[in-house]
Parts: sequence; C-alpha cells; structure tokens
Amino acid sequence: MSVQREPIGVIGTGYVGLVTAAGFAELGNDVHCIDIDVEKIEGLRQGRIPIWEPGLSELVERNRERMHFSTDIADALEHARLLFVAVGTPPTYSGDADLSSVHAVVDAMPPSDRHALVMKSTVPVGTGDNVKRTFAEHGKAGFRYVSCPEFLKEGSAVKDFLEPDRVVVGDEGDWAGDAVVELYSPLGAPLVRTDIRSAEMVKLASNAFLATKISFINEIANVCEETGADVVEVAKGMGLDDRIGPKFLQAGIGFGGSCFPKDVTALKQLAGNSGYHFQLLNSVIEVNELQKRRVIAKLQKHLGGLVGREIALLGLAFKPNTDDMREASSLVLSARLQAAGARVRAYDPVAEEEARKLIRGVDFKGSAAEAVAGADAVVLVTEWPEFAALELPEVAASMRGDLLVDGRNFLDPNVVRAAGLVYEGIGRPSRNGGPVARYGGE
Ligand SMILES: NC(=O)c1ccc[n+]([C@@H]2O[C@H](COP(=O)([O-])OP(=O)(O)OC[C@H]3O[C@@H](n4cnc5c(N)ncnc54)[C@H](O)[C@@H]3O)[C@@H](O)[C@H]2O)c1
Repeated sequence: MSVQREPIGVIGTGYVGLVTAAGFAELGNDVHCIDIDVEKIEGLRQGRIPIWEPGLSELVERNRERMHFSTDIADALEHARLLFVAVGTPPTYSGDADLSSVHAVVDAMPPSDRHALVMKSTVPVGTGDNVKRTFAEHGKAGFRYVSCPEFLKEGSAVKDFLEPDRVVVGDEGDWAGDAVVELYSPLGAPLVRTDIRSAEMVKLASNAFLATKISFINEIANVCEETGADVVEVAKGMGLDDRIGPKFLQAGIGFGGSCFPKDVTALKQLAGNSGYHFQLLNSVIEVNELQKRRVIAKLQKHLGGLVGREIALLGLAFKPNTDDMREASSLVLSARLQAAGARVRAYDPVAEEEARKLIRGVDFKGSAAEAVAGADAVVLVTEWPEFAALELPEVAASMRGDLLVDGRNFLDPNVVRAAGLVYEGIGRPSRNGGPVARYGGE
C-alpha cells in the first residue's frame, strides 16, 4: 500500500527549483511550481525544460501528472503547507547577496498558521531571523520558517537530489521542521537538524571550503610550474591521504559558476559587515581571478604577441554537463584575448545559446573540428567528455599553429605531443621551455 505523500509548493523553477520539484514528484509528492517568468511556466506546461541538466527532462516527463505549473502563488498556497523557496540570490555590486527576490516571496505570503517557507536559496546567515521578524511585523507571526540549504551540483543535480550526501534542516523544532525531515526521509541521507543560523552557515562554509581547496591546488600548480613538479602527480599523492581526499584537487583555470564566486564573496562580505576580516577568502578570490588570466601568459610565451592570432576555445560552460555560463572562466578569457588583439573562435556542445547572450566578438563554431581549423592555438576551457575523443593528429593537421593549452589538465600530454602538438597544461612540466612566465599584463 502506498503512503500518501504531502503536496508541496516550489517557488522559483530554475536549476534548484525544477530539480527539487521533479525530485519530490519522483518520490510521490504533488508539486505546485511557481515562477514569475510567464514564458518559462508556459513552456514547462507544454513539457519544455528551460535548462540543460542530465536526466531532468526524463524525470519531469515521468512525473508530469504530479507536477503543476503556475505564475500565481495562490495555487501553491491553496494546495501545500510547505513552500520551498528556490529563487535566485545573485551578487550585488557590494558583493552582498541580492535578496530582493526572496523579499518579494516573503511579502507575497498572507497571514497563516498553516504554512511554512522552506528556504533552499543560498542566503546570508541571519536571513531566517530577518524573515521571521518581517512576518511578525506584518501580522504573519504564525507563518513558519525552515532553512534547508541546497547542495546539488549542476551537471549531476538529479542524482544529487536523489542521493544527497546529507540533508540539513535548520528550524525551531516545530511542525514545519518535522515535516521537512519527513519529506526527505525516503532518501535515507544523513540528517543534520540544527538551528536556522547554523544551517545557513553550513551552506556558505561548504562552498567557501571547496573554493579554497581549488585555489589551493591552483597555487600549488603555479609553484609546480616554477619548480618542475607535475601537479597532477602531486594531487594524486595528496588525495590518497584520507584527511585530504581526491576531490576538488584538480588544478585548472579557476572556478566559476553561479554559486562559488558569489557565495565566497557573500561570506566574505557577511564577515566584513560584522567587523571580521576574512583574510583567507580574500586570497581564495584573488588567486581565482589571476588563475583565469595565466592562460594569456602561456599563450604569449609561445606565440609572442597575440595581435591577429586566431585562438580557439573548446568549451565555454563553467563546467561540463551544463549550459550554465554564469561566471564561467571563458567569459574572462575571451574578453582578455580580444583585448590583447587576438581573434577568438569557440565551440561548446550545449552552452552556445547561453554564451551568445554574454560573450561578444567571438566566432561561434558548430564543432570542435571547425573551431580548431586554422587556429594558431587551442585552449581547452571546459572538460566536456567529447574533447577526450578529439582526433589529435587531425587537429594538428588542420591548425595553422601547433599549441594546445589544456586549461583543465584533461588530456594526456604524451598523446597530445605524439600528435605533433605543443602541450601546455596547468602546473605540468613543459617540455618546450622553462617555467611559464608569471602573469604581468599584456
Ligand atoms: N544552481 C546551483 O547549482 C545551486 C546549487 C545550490 C544552491 N543554489 C542556490 O539556489 C538559488 C536558486 O539558484 P538557481 O541556480 O536555481 O537560480 P535560477 O536563476 O536558475 O532560478 C531562479 C528562478 O526563480 C524565479 N524567480 C525569481 N523571483 C521570483 C519570484 N518572486 N517568484 C517566483 N519565482 C521567482 C526566476 O524566474 C527563476 O526561474 C540561489 O540562491 C542559488 O545560490 C544554486
């Protein structure tokens, strides 16, 4: 006999909202999805998935009957007592999180003793208390609040929902917290039930820690370049240590995406606003900015000036298996290259449409082969699996030059060199010269 699962509302149908909605629908919940984007909701009603995320369209398709889409928040309030909030919290100019969408949702809530907001959006510590104060000031003290931060990764978001490492629930020990715990219980994940502020901090601290790990290995890579060590070997040796672990130890051209850059900056600002100077995070951010630009120095080392050079970028999305271009390293790279006088062509298996909205002056190509033909140098920016299968001898034959900069240490240097190309990785010994020049502008 199947157990009746409670209907829920999800406000915001972006990466987090839609995956959360489809995930709960898969678990048997009726889900009322709300978004202010009329076109998105219309598309979803007709079965069009607005984002590229492996397995998501199948999941939505399979659970169509249980997923309801509307632009009217009243539809969710009518059917559900738990309203998951998954609206965007992008950075403001000051680096603080922009909570205007969260506030819009809070303001739209009516007085109620039967409903709760469940915050999935990443918000500064103290947001929950502020929301509760706002509720109290507007005669809505009965509205409950739960912090339930989201840890999914774009590219494996569906799997991350269904098999989470942990579920974090921050609440005041009331019915709403119990109900959220109950909702997630079929997943059998370790549960951290705590107070609201601690739950909010778990999310920010987790992202800041992962970003720190990336900037750390990138700095090790830069020192490897000076000293002749190979960071891939170094990371392998480090990662086998149980206390360190192998994940997030891949040196490259820096982290991007919609979360790490903004969440690290938001935590730094949060600390600063409270009078604490978070020194370590300043360095994490600075290292990441400089790391994107080191590619320019690598190209200059081999090509000299970049004026009139044809540079091919392979991959544009901030990581493989997503079309998300937010804060992608390719944005900085393509702009820097053009500022240095290079002509840039690019290919990405899925992110071209998003990239066209953000990148100017780039010649978009329909395949990797088209992008590399006639190029003086190729830069592998995103480690899409299809680039592992590049026919390197054909690449070499079709290029005007012979330089391949592997921004993700994705390819085997020996295989690249055997194809007749010059290989430059990140933090790997260069057979073709001494240490890479430090970045010092054009
Ligand atoms: N993308 C990720 O990998 C990820 C992972 C964990 C946490 N988060 C956090 O989750 C939150 C959402 O991120 P996202 O990437 O899904 O954002 P997104 O931009 O993809 O989606 C946000 C959606 O909210 C809608 N929206 C905005 N205001 C609204 C309102 N008042 N009412 C209803 N809908 C509204 C937008 O139209 C959009 O569809 C952010 O706080 C983000 O930091 C994101």
